[in-house]
Amino acid sequence: MPDRLTRDFERFGGGLPREAAAHIREAYGIDLTARYLGTSIPHPIGKGSGQLSLNADQLEADRAAGLAFVILKTVIAEDPVGERSMGAWAVHETKMRVERRQAADGREGWTVTWKGRGWDRSFDDYLALVRVAGDLSRAGQFLAVPSVKYHLPRLDEPFRDEEYRHTTERLAAAWGAGPLPIEKDFSPTLAGDALADERIRILRWLREVPGRIRSAGGPAPIRLALKLMNARFDDAFQLEMMAAAATADALVCFNRLWDDAARVAYGGWDLSERNLRVLHAARAGATNPGTPALVGTGNVCSGRLILDYARAGCESVALHTYFQLPLGEYPATGGSRTERALHALLYHPADGLVAGMLELERAGVLHRRGGELRFLDLCATEP
Ligand SMILES: Cc1cc2nc3c(=O)[nH]c(=O)nc-3n(C[C@H](O)[C@H](O)[C@H](O)COP(=O)(O)O)c2cc1C
Repeated sequence: MPDRLTRDFERFGGGLPREAAAHIREAYGIDLTARYLGTSIPHPIGKGSGQLSLNADQLEADRAAGLAFVILKTVIAEDPVGERSMGAWAVHETKMRVERRQAADGREGWTVTWKGRGWDRSFDDYLALVRVAGDLSRAGQFLAVPSVKYHLPRLDEPFRDEEYRHTTERLAAAWGAGPLPIEKDFSPTLAGDALADERIRILRWLREVPGRIRSAGGPAPIRLALKLMNARFDDAFQLEMMAAAATADALVCFNRLWDDAARVAYGGWDLSERNLRVLHAARAGATNPGTPALVGTGNVCSGRLILDYARAGCESVALHTYFQLPLGEYPATGGSRTERALHALLYHPADGLVAGMLELERAGVLHRRGGELRFLDLCATEP
């Protein structure tokens, strides 16, 4: 089997097979079927919200490259007259720097340094993109999901329901038939914003926001993921946040860390270390494992990291930085960045998903059922 994997890795370095997940199932007896927000997807690898999902061409290219899902850039909610309580987050900033970042334990990883925040064009432009996302998602094998930042009040303030209602109704109308998936982004309220400093306030948001969004959609059924931030508190508070968000359908865990000295968010090995530690602790203490479903994000840079997140309970993973590396960092010599990334994540003979799952089988951690190794079995079982 490893020889075959090495041959496939070399063979697909110039371009992936059209349906890589189907090929892997056929060639290795590995079923990579995963889930995002309850929807079955052919494999667990998707793109997190950010600067790589701003237009229809990017979505179409990612679908063609074989990505399982893409989260659109986060839009800032607005009311019927166009007022946005979180308007300060709609910052226009184009310059991104892909940089090396050394973790506290010395490991060298990658991070993207960028000072912008949310969608900086009009809401109508965003709705046009959501129309494309709805059409592509209904066509099957690929999901494209809007991401929103809604009003988050101070403790003594009410929620601005008009903003929730107007934004959600218009998103539902643009999306079209079928349940509307939404990722609600809490992340920009991370450090740097005094609002993010109060625990009680954060926990209130997490308890109340899912109900607000669901009732704001009117009759449109909504499937809601909350993307949780890494707050500037300890691991125990991350667990409290997860518990407070229990009425969401899924939790995306956890957005980037905050570098107080440089005043920027960052990723790399510190991020995956923290996220995995908290996810394992959540799993160990869970009274009702499996609800909400979990999606991992943070420093996913190999198939092995995907497996680490899966073994911490994540049914899929949302990557951003790995799709932005200098071309020379990918072993493939052809195809888009997305294709090159998928090639390494799936087929790398040492660090890829196939290699890692075969290794878990040899170690007796993962067992064939009906002749197949199943990715989702990893999320369901205790490590
Ligand atoms: C330049 C940049 C912009 C981002 N913008 C958003 C955003 O608008 N909304 C959001 O929820 N996450 C955003 N993120 C977070 C990513 O989606 C992802 O969760 C995070 O970077 C961790 O994954 P990574 O280590 O693979 O980059 C952004 C990340 C980067 C690097």
